[in-house]
Amino acid sequence: MSGTPRPTPDGAPPGPGGTATARRIAVIGAGPGGLYFAALARQSAPGREITVFERDGREDGSGFGVVFSDETLDGIAQADPEVFAAISAEFARWSDIDIRYAGRVRTSGGHGFAALDRNRLRAILRRRCAELAVDVRYRTPAPPVERLAAEYDLVVAADGIRSGTRAAYREAFRPELDERHCRYIWLATDKVFEAFTFIVERFDFGVVQVHAYPYSATRSTFIVEVAEEAWRRAGFEAFAAREFARGESDRESVRRCADLLAGHLDGHRLIPDASRWIRFTTVRNASWRHRNVVLLGDAAHSAHFSIGSGTKLALEDALALTASLGEQPTLDEALAAYEAERRPVVESTQRAAQASLEWFETVGRRTGQDVDQFAFNLLTRSRRVTYGNLRARDAAFVDAVDTAVGGSPGVPPMFRPLKLGALELRNRVVVPPLATFTSPDALPSGFDRAQLTGHALGGAGLVLAGMTAVSPAGRTTDRCPGLWTDHQGAAWRELVRAVRAVSDTPLGIQLTHAGRRGATAVPGPDGIGRPLPGGRPLLSASALRWDADSPLPHEADEAELAAVTADFAAAAGRAARAGFDVLELQFGHGHLVSSFLSPLTNRRTDRYGGPLAHRLRLPLEVLAAVRAVWPAGQPLLVRISACDWAPGGTTEAEAVAICRALAQAGADAVDVSTGEVVAHQRPPYGRGYQTPFAELVRTATGLPTVAVGAISGPDDANSVLLAGRADLVAVGRAQLYDPLWTLHAAAELGYSGPGARWPEPWRAGSRRPPGPGADRVAPRLRLLREPPAPVHRRWSPTPPEE
Ligand SMILES: Cc1cc2nc3c(=O)[nH]c(=O)nc-3n(C[C@H](O)[C@H](O)[C@H](O)COP(=O)(O)OP(=O)(O)OC[C@H]3O[C@@H](n4cnc5c(N)ncnc54)[C@H](O)[C@@H]3O)c2cc1C
Ligand SMILES: Cc1cc2nc3c(=O)[nH]c(=O)nc-3n(C[C@H](O)[C@H](O)[C@H](O)COP(=O)(O)O)c2cc1C
Repeated sequence: MSGTPRPTPDGAPPGPGGTATARRIAVIGAGPGGLYFAALARQSAPGREITVFERDGREDGSGFGVVFSDETLDGIAQADPEVFAAISAEFARWSDIDIRYAGRVRTSGGHGFAALDRNRLRAILRRRCAELAVDVRYRTPAPPVERLAAEYDLVVAADGIRSGTRAAYREAFRPELDERHCRYIWLATDKVFEAFTFIVERFDFGVVQVHAYPYSATRSTFIVEVAEEAWRRAGFEAFAAREFARGESDRESVRRCADLLAGHLDGHRLIPDASRWIRFTTVRNASWRHRNVVLLGDAAHSAHFSIGSGTKLALEDALALTASLGEQPTLDEALAAYEAERRPVVESTQRAAQASLEWFETVGRRTGQDVDQFAFNLLTRSRRVTYGNLRARDAAFVDAVDTAVGGSPGVPPMFRPLKLGALELRNRVVVPPLATFTSPDALPSGFDRAQLTGHALGGAGLVLAGMTAVSPAGRTTDRCPGLWTDHQGAAWRELVRAVRAVSDTPLGIQLTHAGRRGATAVPGPDGIGRPLPGGRPLLSASALRWDADSPLPHEADEAELAAVTADFAAAAGRAARAGFDVLELQFGHGHLVSSFLSPLTNRRTDRYGGPLAHRLRLPLEVLAAVRAVWPAGQPLLVRISACDWAPGGTTEAEAVAICRALAQAGADAVDVSTGEVVAHQRPPYGRGYQTPFAELVRTATGLPTVAVGAISGPDDANSVLLAGRADLVAVGRAQLYDPLWTLHAAAELGYSGPGARWPEPWRAGSRRPPGPGADRVAPRLRLLREPPAPVHRRWSPTPPEE
């Protein structure tokens, strides 16, 4: 780094891209975020005066490694090539992930990791700051932030996950600190692992997992993580109970970990460094800036260590903040631009980290899986790594998993058949109930016929008609169809006949009584139907409004409940006579039966309310009555809301108990949805966000499950299925966008076989039409071909000289 020009003294014109905004800057914290920002900000405008306050000493700070899950670190490479070159020179690099589980090891290649010693990273950044004449003051706690804010143009709070600045301006930043359920202890070992290594071991007290990776020629990081309950049962609580001096490690626990995991350490040591059991806290802030104070790195956001992104996020923040200061005319605009640019990136990483940490919190759920499927499940836990990209990285690994679960490598999981009851589905894709709201007369409409025909031709293995009311009072809107008269039954029979004339795809119908969610207008773009003016009386488990603008339902009495049960059974009989192959009962989404299941909507004190066994009474009565008339062998599905996304709602244990009871009463599969039970729900929408509930039900009950909700791409579908999270995937809006979604997926994946049958008259269109430029053939431009990167690269350091 010696060739770098020294910064010009005060008053020099700003460097390239730099402006005079924020001439005097205070940085709190000399972690990677603070130091990298200080270096970049100084480089881009050398006239700047930058002071970094760090309470610890220059050489303090825990050792161990920091791993980057993407060795390219694009932005960082370009922003300061010298820092990047210095970091890169220290990298331990490899491409494999080893999963050690149940005495076996599985390896997936092609990933691309880079790691280095945290202290070396800090030293490189420190050196860079020194070269650029940044004033870094070690062993100097930052003065109170208000003082800094008054004295400096800008205060960058890079003071870490327990940021004092964030606490001081709590009202402005509005932080949310989510302390998680596992305990972990951060250690090093002198065993040099050759790859990123996940160890999952089952003991009599529960499961222990280890995240280990090499970071130098002599060391690996070794993080041991245990779910809270198992941690207590293992006896760690007793070791952790006493006070530890500053810098002291919990040596009893370290010894115990070494004993438990001796089989993976091959005689090597565990090396503590102020190591104790802690719980991970996910940090989120409603705002990252307050006047001239801005949060950066872990102070603003944290991401669970299992996806190895915290340091990268902090470095990228530093880059974006420096760039914004250079690009924007005022400080206010620069800080706003910084937050606007970084927030979506951070939130996306946090969603992946959240999925990953929840996966590890509940890992015990999956320890019944065989090693191949478990390894695939682990690798796809954050939903960022998918079937498709694992296949692109290491096809042999995915082929082995495919084979281990009884599939064959040439057939993507979504195109495998499934037997449900006596019905054979040609593939695993379902069109879920998608109401069309086109039936003012309660009869299935021309559009229902067109939609079901389109979807039946589109390739899905099963197509369900949208919610259909079992009684006039059970209609959600006054444009929903019904099945409470024989006339309606005949209209559905005619519709089924018409679809059958062109397709043999199995058809189903969803029956419902909307309960307090009834008498609404057709849903608007937000998916919520507002109450119809002068709407009819509503029935529910309890007299509770949906929201302040909704009418008050009345608590259904036993006679009304008996009538509802009879209506469901009569409608089911009509559905069977209409020729439907499959029936789905809507016991979710806050409809009448759902209102009995959720403790938030069922406040009854009679035999239909109170404990879960009572709340299950109506659902089980309805199911028994329907099962009695619905033909044996024809699949009967139940849709539930496995979670209400509101405090006090249905718990995971209750969702499992509900599904067990439904299975005993004759349900063949559960369509696992969530929410829409109460208006104040807060679902964490995102790709596949409901899928963990399908996995929960499937693993706990053995019942086939349908996963649904934001599963929009074939790659997601294949990941869910191969990981064993569900037996079927329902794809809703994406099949409204493209009714031929399944067939198009087959074309994209290069699959042609019995799982994807093109309608004969459309066969000529069964391949994607060539796009513009398809006839252009690229000439060869390289003299020497670059050899393809090896799939498996392991860390094998040159041993240090004696
Ligand atoms: C177990 C574990 C494993 C991890 N593994 C990885 C990994 O492999 N890869 C990865 O990318 N990330 C990993 N991380 C995350 C990573 O450590 C952080 O994301 C990263 O260090 C954040 O950098 P930062 O600069 O924002 O904060 P920090 O590195 O926390 O730095 C904050 C600094 O501020 C100082 N400070 C605080 N208050 C004051 C004050 N009042 N005055 C002066 N100084 C102050 C502190 O002493 C500290 O030096 C891991 C985290 C944990 C907990
Ligand atoms: C237009 C539309 C109509 C819907 N109608 C119903 C319905 O009748 N019954 C039901 O249970 N869910 C219904 N849903 C919810 C879907 O079945 C599905 O659960 C939801 O759209 C999430 O899946 P997706 O993200 O793949 O779209 C509907 C959704 C949409 C977009």
